[in-house]
Amino acid sequence: MKFFIDTANLDQIREANALGILDGVTTNPSLMAKEGIKGNEAVLQHYRNICEIVEGDISAEVLGTDFNTIIEEGKVLAALHPNIVVKVPMIKDGVKAIKWFTDNGIKTNCTLIFSAGQAILAAKAGATYVSPFIGRIDDSGWDGMQLISQISSIYAVQGFKSQILAASIRNANHIIDCAEAGAHVITSPLDPILGLLKHPLTDIGLAKFLEDAKKM
Ligand code: E4P
Repeated sequence: MKFFIDTANLDQIREANALGILDGVTTNPSLMAKEGIKGNEAVLQHYRNICEIVEGDISAEVLGTDFNTIIEEGKVLAALHPNIVVKVPMIKDGVKAIKWFTDNGIKTNCTLIFSAGQAILAAKAGATYVSPFIGRIDDSGWDGMQLISQISSIYAVQGFKSQILAASIRNANHIIDCAEAGAHVITSPLDPILGLLKHPLTDIGLAKFLEDAKKM
């Protein structure tokens, strides 16, 4: 399972990358705004900066909602760096655009997936990645992990090539459950990734070893 970090914060991207387990980055307009990135040129430069830090797929989201605008924006984003993946929302023109990008050799991440039907459409259009938002599904009283399992079964039965990119991760258990449910990729903020490190018995065991080492 690949690990992406879900942030536009360069320090956090550097910290995750330094762990040596990072395979890519996802961003979205909310995450870019949170970092105070304003204006088209600043946004494009920020994507270039991220590509300089991480050797892996970097999702950059289009803002247009009609076919022509999505295509024009996507071409500009894809030209920034060979590792850019154009992130396109799950809307009718988004599906059409994903098919166009697929036919023209541009990688895509279909975002805002909340149902198996949407995941099937995105896969049919040839999306490289399909992003179900599990945390937001949990927040709304449904079961995000159940959707990951369902999409995983459908893709296996049908032989779809799209990778399931579990998004909207809220905690370390989400990452573990995604691994079990068949997600090909998780994209997570830094804290849940670091949360995987933690176990109280590790801390107790290490303290004891270090204490006994003094007697060696
Ligand atoms: C996915 O690519 C999105 O950026 C992200 O995972 C959304 O997560 P949120 O629900 O925490 O905003």
